[in-house]
Amino acid sequence: PAPATAVKLVLLGEAAVGKSSLVLRFVSNDFQENKEPTIGAAFLTQKCTIGDRTIKYEIWDTAGQERFASLAPMYYRNAQAAVVVYDITKPASFIKARHWVKELHEQASKDITIALVGNKYDLVEDEPESADGESLRKVSFEEGQALADEEGLLFFETSAKTSHNVNEVFIGIGEKIPDT
Ligand code: GTP
Ligand code: MG
Repeated sequence: PAPATAVKLVLLGEAAVGKSSLVLRFVSNDFQENKEPTIGAAFLTQKCTIGDRTIKYEIWDTAGQERFASLAPMYYRNAQAAVVVYDITKPASFIKARHWVKELHEQASKDITIALVGNKYDLVEDEPESADGESLRKVSFEEGQALADEEGLLFFETSAKTSHNVNEVFIGIGEKIPDT
């Protein structure tokens, strides 16, 4: 078999949006209701086969808490891929995601592949289209898609809890990464 292409990938986003949970789902197909906040960053690897190629993701899962913000450039500096995560029930996390995308475009590698991910889809999937009561969803699919279109990003709404679209994020990124 052909050797795996190593791809350095960084996850960025506000605290508690589910970065580590997305990685846990992708790497171990598992979910924890009360996952502890990441301290500094965590490193994990996972292989992913796309067609006849194998990609070995080298994943830096950063800490979203503000006190770790200054560490982020170390992790995105030579990343080939980034996943910018927000929580579709938390508008502030979408604003933070915009800032991360801007910072990546200014500071990261010019040819970085970025995926924008609105997580916690399970919290809204059973809501009726036009609810009378207050909806848990605070960021619409269209707002996410519009930001992604403006900035040239892949876009997915995911649930680390149910697995919805989680593999698709990593397959989508892999399809955009050129063979080296
Ligand atoms: P930091 O490491 O502090 O930056 O947070 P994080 O972005 O890594 O978030 P984490 O994965 O630790 O998840 C925070 C909380 O949200 C945990 O209690 C998770 O169980 C929960 N969570 C994560 N993803 C989902 C999801 O898709 N749906 C639901 N309902 N809860 C989720
Ligand atoms: Mg974490």
